Amino acid sequence: MKTRIITPDDTAGMLAAAETLRHGGLVAFPTETVYGLGGNALDPAAAAKIYEAKGRPSDNPLIIHVNSIDEAALYCEVCDLYERLYRHFLPGPLTVILPKRDNIPSEVTAGLDTVAVRIPSHPVARKLISLSGIPVAAPSANSSGRPSPTTALHVAEDLIGRIDFIIDGGSCDFGLESTIVKPEGNNRLTVLRPGAVTPEMLSKVCDEVTLAPSVTGFFRGTTPEAPGMKYRHYAPNLPVVILDGSGKEIENFLSDKTNFGFLCFDEDMDIFQDRDDVVAISMGGCSDYAAQAHRLFDCLRHFDEVEGIDTIYARMPRRDGVSLAVFNRLVKAAGMDIRKL
Ligand code: TXA
Ligand code: MG
Repeated sequence: MKTRIITPDDTAGMLAAAETLRHGGLVAFPTETVYGLGGNALDPAAAAKIYEAKGRPSDNPLIIHVNSIDEAALYCEVCDLYERLYRHFLPGPLTVILPKRDNIPSEVTAGLDTVAVRIPSHPVARKLISLSGIPVAAPSANSSGRPSPTTALHVAEDLIGRIDFIIDGGSCDFGLESTIVKPEGNNRLTVLRPGAVTPEMLSKVCDEVTLAPSVTGFFRGTTPEAPGMKYRHYAPNLPVVILDGSGKEIENFLSDKTNFGFLCFDEDMDIFQDRDDVVAISMGGCSDYAAQAHRLFDCLRHFDEVEGIDTIYARMPRRDGVSLAVFNRLVKAAGMDIRKL
């Protein structure tokens, strides 16, 4: 298949992409979090194509993207708590799990009776949704298991020749996938996946906010709250090991290791500056959580391009605010391999 790459200012191209989407084709598009791989959420065959293009297990349900709460209400049962979340955070990087209506095929929700609904704020995502006139099912536009794409180039690396269109809208603002929450009644929320909308922010609109076990640890049971949480995820091809210690402790631990990548903060860039066999890449300043979120996936992909290293050692991110999402993705990339120094 030939993949057409267009930019959002190409009006005819955008119309063609929307038409393709409506008729069962696949279109990758930018959002404020990561790039999505869109298909018609009302069409079971389009969902099957998404799973195939990504190599994604079909027991991992998709998020549907719409432009307003009225559109959301066509496909799921909205509740009071959802309306509050909408007023505070939407459109934006927050996905909510709600009871689904019958018009959403079970292929999209992997047989669940709930559906994940997201109202993105990115103008290109919104334009594509409105031009196509359908709810857009979209997982992240990466091959299953790889770090999510934050640029059109990342999408092309994984999916060129497998999808109809890539809309190149530049690099994604936030850089990690949306926060996913599940309402429990009218005043309780469980965070299934941390993101730009933090637990601290959610607790402003809801009395009880709890973190699902998979947010801070690795899934070990049989039924994860979000099915996607049970796989090693967001991972580059090289093994990732997280080091939990000070700069000095890390320097000592790695003194007898050779040929490795070091995923670190700006403050650590001089630790291995005299060693030719070490490739250090910074996610940003140690307190600059927005930079870390923005760069993490690009850094992980970058290490795969480097010749001659066999392991990535990574600095342990903090767990407050937006850094909880950075921590969560890195822990999953490392398959929970954390060394306490
Ligand atoms: O930021 C994002 O959310 C991006 C952009 C494209 O919108 N999308 C994204 O989709 O990250 P994906 O498919 O990579 O991740 C969706 C996650 C998976 O972990 C999946 O298991 C979970 O949402 N999920 C989907 N439907 C669910 C449901 N009904 N109940 C629980 N978890 C669900
Ligand atoms: Mg994904």
